[in-house]
Amino acid sequence: MLALSEQPVAIITGASRGIGRATALALARRGARLSLFARSESLLAEAVNQAKQLGASDAVAFVCDLRDESQVESAVASTLRHFGRIDILVNNAGLSLNGEVDGYSLADWSTVIDTNLRGVFLTCRAVLPAMKKQGNGQIINISSGAGRNGIRGMAAYCAAKFGVIGFTEALGLEVRNLNIRVSVVLPGSTATDFSNTARRRTAQVQEAEAGRSIGYAMTPEEVAGAILAVLEQPAQAWMSEVVLRPLNTELLRTIDD
Ligand SMILES: NC(=O)c1ccc[n+]([C@@H]2O[C@H](COP(=O)([O-])OP(=O)(O)OC[C@H]3O[C@@H](n4cnc5c(N)ncnc54)[C@H](OP(=O)(O)O)[C@@H]3O)[C@@H](O)[C@H]2O)c1
Repeated sequence: MLALSEQPVAIITGASRGIGRATALALARRGARLSLFARSESLLAEAVNQAKQLGASDAVAFVCDLRDESQVESAVASTLRHFGRIDILVNNAGLSLNGEVDGYSLADWSTVIDTNLRGVFLTCRAVLPAMKKQGNGQIINISSGAGRNGIRGMAAYCAAKFGVIGFTEALGLEVRNLNIRVSVVLPGSTATDFSNTARRRTAQVQEAEAGRSIGYAMTPEEVAGAILAVLEQPAQAWMSEVVLRPLNTELLRTIDD
């Protein structure tokens, strides 16, 4: 629908690293105007610089904890003030904190549910008035294979990601006749920092494992490519859900492949 050649304004959450950063850079190469959200200021600044070098028409960043209503409202309002419109929202920020339900802390439950689900609600709600006024918009919410299949030790994450799918389907129906497409992408295993956070690996362990094989996981750039494909569908085509899996489970790759 939105020709990416028309320098659309895109908000990408969790753009400081991983799939979010790769999506920002893929959109930058297409000349998009970018508003990047995450909590890590220095990583966001790095992403903005990279995006500008790669061809983004403009790029700004807002430090924002997606769990916090006022921070989300303020980051979206600042984006609107800066660009005057919002064409795309990629709701990518997310994390897991793994652990079996017996003994799982309420604090971890809240972190996982609030980051993955409450954050998606807050950002969608914040951008909808602008998209409705413009008469167009695209929202892509990132769920997971864990949003369709339960995984042992990931109950909180599964609950949140199942929730993202239901939320996306319902919102999609609310706004489809307003020329706003809401889609959900379910990536499979992707080589990012995600599993370090999920397994609570210390920086020391991560360093010791640097350069390790990532098995058959996808790269964040491969997932970003699929996100761009969702954004580039023709006018009357709504790609409402994409399930993305690594193809060859025997293919061993290293981080630098
Ligand atoms: N990697 C996989 O195998 C995989 C598979 C399926 C789905 N996914 C989903 O893909 C999305 C991206 O994950 P990734 O693999 O790229 O992981 P990642 O490299 O760990 O990146 C996660 C991003 O989310 C941001 N984030 C986390 N909590 C936040 C908060 N409270 N407020 C704002 N930003 C926050 C982080 O930024 P800051 O820390 O700077 O805030 C970071 O930019 C997530 O929704 C994840 O659930 C990943």
